[in-house]
Amino acid sequence: MGNVLKNIEKISIKKFQDDLISWFKAEQRDLPWRKNQDPYKVWVSEIMLQQTRVDTVIPYFNRFVEWFPTIEDLAEANDDKVLKAWEGLGYYSRVRNLHSAVKEVSEKYNGEVPNTPKEISKLKGVGPYTAGAILSIAYGIPEPAVDGNVMRVLSRILSIWEDIAKPSTRKVFENAVRELISHDEPSEFNQALMELGALICTPTSPSCLLCPVRDHCQGFHEGVESELPVKSKKNTKRSVDLVAVILKDDQGKILIHKRPENGLLANLWEFPNIEIHQPTVMDRAQISDLFRESFNLNSKLEKGIGQIEHIFSHLIWNIRVYTGSIISPFQENNEWKWVSLDEMDEYAFPVSYHKIVKLYHEYN
Ligand code: ADE
Repeated sequence: MGNVLKNIEKISIKKFQDDLISWFKAEQRDLPWRKNQDPYKVWVSEIMLQQTRVDTVIPYFNRFVEWFPTIEDLAEANDDKVLKAWEGLGYYSRVRNLHSAVKEVSEKYNGEVPNTPKEISKLKGVGPYTAGAILSIAYGIPEPAVDGNVMRVLSRILSIWEDIAKPSTRKVFENAVRELISHDEPSEFNQALMELGALICTPTSPSCLLCPVRDHCQGFHEGVESELPVKSKKNTKRSVDLVAVILKDDQGKILIHKRPENGLLANLWEFPNIEIHQPTVMDRAQISDLFRESFNLNSKLEKGIGQIEHIFSHLIWNIRVYTGSIISPFQENNEWKWVSLDEMDEYAFPVSYHKIVKLYHEYN
């Protein structure tokens, strides 16, 4: 931290704030969550924007606030509808946490998002970044909101060489923001850092010639902006081989299964599938045997229709896809349903299963 403080001292803080904030006021993108400062909408947008690009988020955000315009609407909404609103955005624990936190706000805080770091940070899914973003953007409180983009921008401006992949490094940047943030316009200041990271101070080939705070940027003056931030490589992703089957009954309905209520893609729906551990390729009869043993499901696999790859942050699914039919009746319950292709629209599926449906349509 010593070095960082020394580098902060080199900056004329008031001039830096003015240059940054004037640029933001003139150049900011017109984004739907910037229309007002409703803390609930700021909260929804910040949760969506974690790990997801702005262009992807915009239509999801608009639909979400149309379906659930207020805290109360979301608090009272049914779990399946909330999951459906998030379908395709990924990282579904974000929306489960948001839903339970909103219920807590409704019950414990009379529907008002709390405005203190202590209370807001206790809500499910509200980490230091989200807490700072809501407090500054919705309530005008000068709290840091440091995510990967802000770390990239500040690592260059202040020439900070600590590894941003290490969780402990975020504190270094939060302390820097506490020194730099405008107390008059904390919302604009934090959003300007985010906007600068999105539009100018991009991960590769930053547009330094257009940068409103280039004169303050120590990375630029040292000619090292492209070496920053320092980010060690994450460990490699684990690969999982799966076989999934589009199983039909004699009326052409398709069997779907609800995933467990905890873990990866919790509560989303999928086609019956099974993990294949052995390296040898299994034939269709062996796969049918596995389905029988695992789910008591008597099926006959017919055709292999292709292969899907889906990449998560920590693992890769390789899914081999078959069509098949059922040999003996299989009863519906809470976890298993027979649905037509049209009825499938009512259920939330992971993106990988949408890819499977696409494959199925191309094949038929
Ligand atoms: N990324 C994270 N939060 C953002 C926001 N409020 N506006 C634009 N991009 C963001």
